[in-house]
Amino acid sequence: MNIIIADHYDDLCRISADIVKDCVKAKPDAVLGLATGSTPIGLYKQLVHQYKSGELDFSKVTTFNLDEYIGLSPEHPQSYNKFMYDHLFRHINVPEEQIHIPKGDNPQLEDECSAYENLIRRIGGIDIQILGIGANGHIGFNEPGSDPEARTRIVRLSESTIKANARFFGDQSLVPRLAISMGIQTIMEFSRHIVLLASGEEKAEAVQKMAEGIMTKNVPASILQSHPNVTVIADQHAAQQLKKQSS
Ligand code: PGA
Repeated sequence: MNIIIADHYDDLCRISADIVKDCVKAKPDAVLGLATGSTPIGLYKQLVHQYKSGELDFSKVTTFNLDEYIGLSPEHPQSYNKFMYDHLFRHINVPEEQIHIPKGDNPQLEDECSAYENLIRRIGGIDIQILGIGANGHIGFNEPGSDPEARTRIVRLSESTIKANARFFGDQSLVPRLAISMGIQTIMEFSRHIVLLASGEEKAEAVQKMAEGIMTKNVPASILQSHPNVTVIADQHAAQQLKKQSS
């Protein structure tokens, strides 16, 4: 696990955007795994900027998002589909048919999950997988206790995630309880390079356990220790409990 400590959130965004840029420049038909949440918003801003200034072309890029709430239509203001179009897809030239986000309103949810998994496999995996991390150590919606062997599937959100995400819905009761998420095994097996972003003091404990704690399914991100190519980009607040930097 390669850990980069960024001075500020803006640096974190710039460093991660440069990693994505280098990848797409070297491989114009790169497959990008994308994440939602507050943390990657600045990365997406940078990518939009790079596209608009002519530095980056997304016309051959394919994307796969990590997860989506079950029961929300793609147009729902809090769906991850809407999030991705608002923050990235609407502003760049990635063709619609190359964008993949699990469909949380598909009545055949099991089929949706297996088709999603199969599509990532068929396309040959993911060049760069962007991840956030939950304060509880989750990656995607793989909550503490998730099976490390799990593939894309229906998951139940933990109480702490429901609380954390209530800020977007206005009221905790409105947060969906279920989601579709790529599994830990999906991420581990299909991603050639994982770039995990962490910002803010509330992530500090999770970052420390992920990087320096024992590998345990109770901290799903700790499983990433066994992946050969992980870059963690943390701002100083998120990195403050790491033991290595203070030694
Ligand atoms: P956040 O979410 O970026 O909004 O903090 C990260 C996550 O829960 O994975």
